[in-house]
Amino acid sequence: MTEQAKGCQDKEMTFRIMRYDPDKDAKPYFQQYKIKLQHGMTILDALMHIKETQDPTLSYRKSCRMGICGSCAMQVNGFPRLTCQTQVTEISTDTIEVRPLANYPIIRDLVPDLGDFMARHESILPYIIREDHQEQNNPTGEYSQSPAELEEYLQFAYCIKCGSCLAACPTNATDRKFTGPQALAAAYRYAADSRDGGLAARLDTLDHPNSLFRCHYAGACSEACPKGVDPSLGIQLLKRKLFQKKILGRGQKPAGMAQTPAGIGRREGIPQAPEKTV
Ligand code: FES
Repeated sequence: MTEQAKGCQDKEMTFRIMRYDPDKDAKPYFQQYKIKLQHGMTILDALMHIKETQDPTLSYRKSCRMGICGSCAMQVNGFPRLTCQTQVTEISTDTIEVRPLANYPIIRDLVPDLGDFMARHESILPYIIREDHQEQNNPTGEYSQSPAELEEYLQFAYCIKCGSCLAACPTNATDRKFTGPQALAAAYRYAADSRDGGLAARLDTLDHPNSLFRCHYAGACSEACPKGVDPSLGIQLLKRKLFQKKILGRGQKPAGMAQTPAGIGRREGIPQAPEKTV
């Protein structure tokens, strides 16, 4: 253990946590808890410790505890963070305030309702669109894609849908119909994929006043994104795609099938995939 970590061990911290039970409370309020800091403790560890030792009624959402699932995002001292990735010692205040993600309805305590967020994501057709449905449903090989083509969209494919970008976005705070940085960056992710042929259909879903051009380029989404996706860059690149398609008439022919290298076959002993259920 480092000297700095030894200094933090057993230090008492105060957590000021927003509580709200819609069945009982007229409005949210704050409750304070004191805990002793343990080496390596994250904000999520602290919440779990409080729930296990002081208040079993405290509600929050979490799953993977490794920055992958995106379910533990909360406002920590006013900034959206993945709580399982945030060490308590990273926060320099003795009292740490934890609230549910801003700009979402609250289900209970620290649990935001992400239903509308997911609906916005779904609205931009977040999947590869092609006309060869037979090949897509019963693939006989792989679509061709070079490493350079992968790089075109890879950064935007790292989104874990934690909702932090919408919590930080000032446009979303004032316009709840705004498509939002997550969905717009996801739209660019698919528009930039060389295997996709659905740009026209996807741009049609964005053809409304609360979409692409409502972004004021504050950049708060990119600052808040815990995975470095940079949604505000995706939004600007999507505007370029829109211009190329609608003004210059430039589209993209989706990639064809890759050639299977000679001499490559299925290795012995690899079990077959199970039958499809849907
Ligand atoms: Fe999965 Fe934090 S619990 S990202």
